[in-house]
Order: sequence, then C-alpha cells, then structure tokens
Amino acid sequence: MAQKQKALDLTIIGAGMIVTDVLLPSALQLQRTGVIGEITVCDMRESALKALKENKDILEAFPGQDFKTCPEIGAGDSSDTELYKKVLAEKDHYGLVIIALPDQLHYMVLKGVIPFNQHILCVKPLVLQYDQALEIEKEAKERGIFIGVEYHKRFDRRALLARKHYRKGDLGDFALGESKLIEPYFYRHSNFQNWFTCENTDPFVYVGCHYVDLVCFITGLKPVEVSVTGRKGTFPNGKEGYMWSNGRVVFENAGTLSVNNGLGYPDDSAGGNDQGLIMYFDGDDCAGLLAHDDHNRGVEYGFAKNVSKRFQYVNPDFFRTVPWEGDGLKAIGYGFDSVAATLISASAIEAKVDGNPDRAMEIRQNGIKEANAKGLIATPENSAYNELVQEAARMSILAGGDIAIIDYSTERPTVKLKK
Ligand SMILES: NC(=O)c1ccc[n+]([C@@H]2O[C@H](COP(=O)([O-])OP(=O)(O)OC[C@H]3O[C@@H](n4cnc5c(N)ncnc54)[C@H](O)[C@@H]3O)[C@@H](O)[C@H]2O)c1
Repeated sequence: MAQKQKALDLTIIGAGMIVTDVLLPSALQLQRTGVIGEITVCDMRESALKALKENKDILEAFPGQDFKTCPEIGAGDSSDTELYKKVLAEKDHYGLVIIALPDQLHYMVLKGVIPFNQHILCVKPLVLQYDQALEIEKEAKERGIFIGVEYHKRFDRRALLARKHYRKGDLGDFALGESKLIEPYFYRHSNFQNWFTCENTDPFVYVGCHYVDLVCFITGLKPVEVSVTGRKGTFPNGKEGYMWSNGRVVFENAGTLSVNNGLGYPDDSAGGNDQGLIMYFDGDDCAGLLAHDDHNRGVEYGFAKNVSKRFQYVNPDFFRTVPWEGDGLKAIGYGFDSVAATLISASAIEAKVDGNPDRAMEIRQNGIKEANAKGLIATPENSAYNELVQEAARMSILAGGDIAIIDYSTERPTVKLKK
C-alpha cells in the first residue's frame, strides 16, 4: 500500500564533502517528491556554504530549487559551534535534521539536536562509544524521535541480495572474509587534515566500519574480537594521522573478516577509490563464496574532454544524477536510497501523526520499533555493535594492535583488551 508522506522542513548541519556529493542532492530530490519542505544548511565556514550554493552539478540537476544557509552568504564565518540551535529554535518540532559533521562531533551535536524534537539522519558512525549510542537511543525513543544512521552500503542491491540468500541459508555459514576500502590520496589535502588525526579516528573507524557493518547486515553475526594496526603519516598541515590500517574482526561463530583501509588510492587511478568484499562460507560438505567487486562495476569510460582523469571506472550504482522525465537531473543510486529510507520513514510517521494526533507518541514510537525490528535502516539500537567495534578498534590501534574483546555475557556488553 502506498505510504502517505508529509513534507517536513530539513536542517542540514555541515556543508562539507558528503553534503555536497550525496546528502544535499538527495534532499533536493526528495523535495521534489513531497518528502521535504524547506531546506536550510548550516556550517560555521561561509566558504563551504558558498561553494555549495555555487556548485555547478547541483545547479544543473535541480533548477528552480534552492536552500537557505546559516549564516547567510556575506555574513562571514561563525565561531559559534552551536549555530544550528538558532536554526532549530525557529523550526516546528518533528521536522528533519541531517548531521554531517566530523565523527567526533556527532555525540555532542546529537545531544544538542534531540531537545528540539527533530527526526535525525546521522552520517556514520553515529557516535564513537557504545554508552553514548545507548544514551542517544533512550532519549530519542522517549521523545519519539526517529534516528537513522547512514550506512549506505546496506542499500546496495548486491548487499540486499546477499542478506536474503545468507538468511535463507543458501550460502552456508560465514567462515572467512576479506574487505578493503582505500579512499583517494587527495583526501589528505582536504579538510580531513584538521580532524582525521591519530587521537580522533583512523581508516578502520572511518571506512572499515562500512564493511564490518555490511558483514553483520548480511549474516546477523555479532563481532566479538577486534585487532587493528595502523601506519601513521603527516598531513600537509603537519598534523599526524593514521593513513593506513589493517584490521581483523572475529565473529561469534569464529568467522573472521580482514579489513584493509587507507587514505591512499592513487589520484590518477581509474576508480573513485578501491573497494570490495570477498566472503567464504562452510556449507554441507561444500563451500560457499560471495565476491563483490565494488571498485569496478563494469563501466569504463575514456573521456574525450572536461575531466581531470581521462580513463575512469564509473560507478553508476552509488550516487549519480541522471536524465529523467522531470526538470534537471534525478538523484539515483544506493546512496540516495539510503538517505531516502530514513527521511521517508520519518515523513511517513508524521503523515500518520497528522491523521491521528491523539496517538502521536504511540505512532512515533511504533515507527522506531518497526525499523529496529526490520533491520534495514541502521538505527542506534540495531546497529550499536558498530560502536562496540569502534571502541574495540580504537583501543587496539592505540595499543599497537593488541586484541580487544567484546563481551556480550553481561547486560551491558563490555570492551577490553585481551591481555
Ligand atoms: N557515508 C559515508 O560513507 C561517508 C562518506 C564521507 C563522509 N562521511 C561522514 O560524514 C561526516 C563529515 O564528513 P565530510 O567528508 O563531509 O567532512 P568535511 O570535513 O568535508 O565537512 C565537515 C563540515 O562540518 C563543518 N562543521 C564543523 N563543525 C561544525 C559545527 N559545529 N557546526 C556547523 N558546521 C560545522 C565544517 O566547517 C565542514 O564544512 C564524517 O562523520 C564522515 O565520517 C560519511
């Protein structure tokens, strides 16, 4: 049955790379379909907002659509880290917020947004610690706030298909896997150099988490042991970060995933990055295998003009804007599907609330419960193992690769070094 939608105002906090490439274009697409009303983007750096306003790809894809900024263009940078609160103070309750800030700010900003009763889409990772995830989950549930965490690989058709087959037993029992996600070298020259430092994060936590989440998403297995080693390097501004990491995650059935990550895919290579997943399974006196080449998806272009790199692997699956029957271009791909899943869920909840205002809290809390149970959208509750893995990974990498154990035997799972 078709779901009713309610157009909700959206506030996007952060105007960096992921907002430019995926989140704002997705939001503008959803504005066309009546899921989103007015859009406001808030960033402390005026230059980031100005770049977003003048972005040629966005202007080409979404003619006649616009968004507000805070601060307004021309007002200069802001030193107020809680600028978004000024925007939210003007908004109706139970609108939408997207949080797209550096990882270590998510917890603080989630705590700042929740009192404004806004449904939230947060870029991954939700937070960096398990206790923080529990706290956010509890506060959000009490207020009927729907929170989705943007693990977009879950919405890739190949992942959905793998989940279906694994859960039916078609592939066997996960035994051994190999994942890699190496982001481009040029990331080292971006705003990353200001926050991607050793004390804050590392490539395993930044992108390795996608494949760890994906293996959990496909198999339903819990991660129980994590070890990560890192190789440090220096950003152009002199700050030190882990540029490469090698991790190993052991699951509750002793299945083991090796996780290779880095900021170092050569800028002039054909792909946008290098990534993929291979999983082996034990069957009934036979083996199973799944291999996802997420790097070259079978489309190769030799461009004649207008590009920085002439020969490219083009990934049509993640996020693109393409011709459609309406004006401009349409946002498509699993990146869009993932953003849409959370924002449409929240919009559908509010449409139901409008039809039944006396049952508002019950409807909102049921919406959260259903999403938790379904397990497609990552929620603070159904994906909290990611925070346990991150805690374990940070503990391990800072201890030079010692094994960290996730113990689920107590009511609140604990993370500690093995020795
Ligand atoms: N889903 C994915 O796979 C994916 C991909 C890329 C990034 N991300 C995540 O998105 C987040 C942001 O990444 P990015 O690459 O866009 O980073 P970025 O550094 O390009 O952008 C972050 C922006 O936040 C702004 N900012 C910082 N503090 C602020 C505050 N208090 N109020 C308003 N603005 C503030 C900065 O000025 C900057 O413009 C990170 O958590 C990252 O892990 C996720």
